[in-house]
Amino acid sequence: MVSFYALCWALGLGLRVWGKTIPTTKAVVLFGDSYTDQSRAHSIANGTYPGKDYQEVFPPTDTAADGGVQWPWYLGLYGNYTIWNYAVGGAVCSNVLTPLNGEPDVIGGQTDWFIQDHVTNNGTKDQKLDMDPEEFVVIIYIGTNDVGIHLFIDDSQSPTVSLADLADCQLTTIRNLYALGARRFIVNSLIPLQLTRLYSNSSDPTIYYPAPHDGVAWNKRMYNFVQTMNTLLRRGVAALSEEWRGTATLDVFDTYGFFEEMYNHPAKFFNGSIPANVTGHCHQCPDPNDFTQCGIGDCTLAERDSYMWWDELHPSEQTGRNLAQQLFKKLTGAETQF
Ligand SMILES: *[C@@H]1O[C@H](CO)[C@@H](O)[C@H](O)[C@H]1NC(C)=O
Ligand SMILES: *[C@@H]1O[C@H](CO)[C@@H](O)[C@H](O)[C@H]1NC(C)=O
Ligand SMILES: *[C@@H]1O[C@H](CO)[C@@H](O)[C@H](O)[C@H]1NC(C)=O
Ligand SMILES: *[C@@H]1O[C@H](CO)[C@@H](O)[C@H](O)[C@H]1NC(C)=O
Ligand SMILES: *[C@@H]1O[C@H](CO)[C@@H](O)[C@H](O)[C@H]1NC(C)=O
Ligand SMILES: *[C@@H]1O[C@H](CO)[C@@H](O)[C@H](O)[C@H]1NC(C)=O
Repeated sequence: MVSFYALCWALGLGLRVWGKTIPTTKAVVLFGDSYTDQSRAHSIANGTYPGKDYQEVFPPTDTAADGGVQWPWYLGLYGNYTIWNYAVGGAVCSNVLTPLNGEPDVIGGQTDWFIQDHVTNNGTKDQKLDMDPEEFVVIIYIGTNDVGIHLFIDDSQSPTVSLADLADCQLTTIRNLYALGARRFIVNSLIPLQLTRLYSNSSDPTIYYPAPHDGVAWNKRMYNFVQTMNTLLRRGVAALSEEWRGTATLDVFDTYGFFEEMYNHPAKFFNGSIPANVTGHCHQCPDPNDFTQCGIGDCTLAERDSYMWWDELHPSEQTGRNLAQQLFKKLTGAETQF
């Protein structure tokens, strides 16, 4: 259930005074990783410069990390929003805090693209945002790689970085975007990563991490990381909302809770040709040491929408449609389904 207070925040400035209308959302600006990226990571790998001239590439030419079309496209479809998707597969919030793949990060390279696209005369006294702040919302959905493999989960992070720094990075990004003129923000909480195959309690090798590891320990660590990050994000967002009361709207979307809802009530959300499956995944890699075999043994196209997960780490396209539907409800002030 969404509390009245939370609902009012979600609805933006307008509804806090009865009789005023919900702001009309015309565009959604997204920052994140492979949970949001449609094709930027591939475009970068391709050598196609993905800045101002970037074009999203959709199936069958290119598939996102969910095996198909990524959820922002569905959000755009459901709400008739213009989607500015700056997310890059493999990204983290900050390459300074948690260097990983060197992909443009949320606080740096991804924000720079937003500036290139939407801020005229950046850095001068004539600096101006080219969108009405009331008409677009920023969604930040990052953290999966920051806490994951080759970083926190296997103690590969720098000895002087903490989860608190990761949460601060998200809040600082919001402050930076506020300074550029953005006024409406949603932070998607981290999903229950302990439910993915990669961070399950099994110690069997996976394509993402074929090396030996202690599955039971990883599973508990990941639960702890995600819960801690989400608590830090919720409190940080609440403090910033208070600081900006009346000048900006800022809220956490409970991605964690919504994923738990899908996990616990799969029949409501998954509609492929077989019974809903929230523990396995469609995309298979029969030999965890040989990615060229990935795809052998995949579920069929008709079965796909029965799966909550596409692979050992990524949610499926149907999970993405469900997420888009809930975010659409949030943006239009309708009751969310969990
Ligand atoms: C990669 O380059 C090829 C050839 O130019 C192009 O057809 C394809 O759309 C590009 N893929 C992405 C994701 O940009
Ligand atoms: C969708 O959005 C575009 C651009 O904002 C607008 O011109 C068009 O009328 C909208 N269509 C509908 C069906 O609302
Ligand atoms: C925008 O301006 C600031 C302040 O001068 C500068 O630090 C930043 O690099 C600029 N960003 C872009 C993308 O040009
Ligand atoms: C791993 O988790 C499953 C439930 O997902 C549980 O049934 C099993 O007992 C757990 N195994 C260990 C070793 O904790
Ligand atoms: C499942 O539902 C979605 C809408 O959420 C729809 O777009 C999709 O085609 C459905 N999948 C199947 C296999 O019917
Ligand atoms: C779910 O899918 C996996 C394939 O990843 C399969 O091994 C498993 O048996 C399925 N579980 C159920 C309950 O159908």
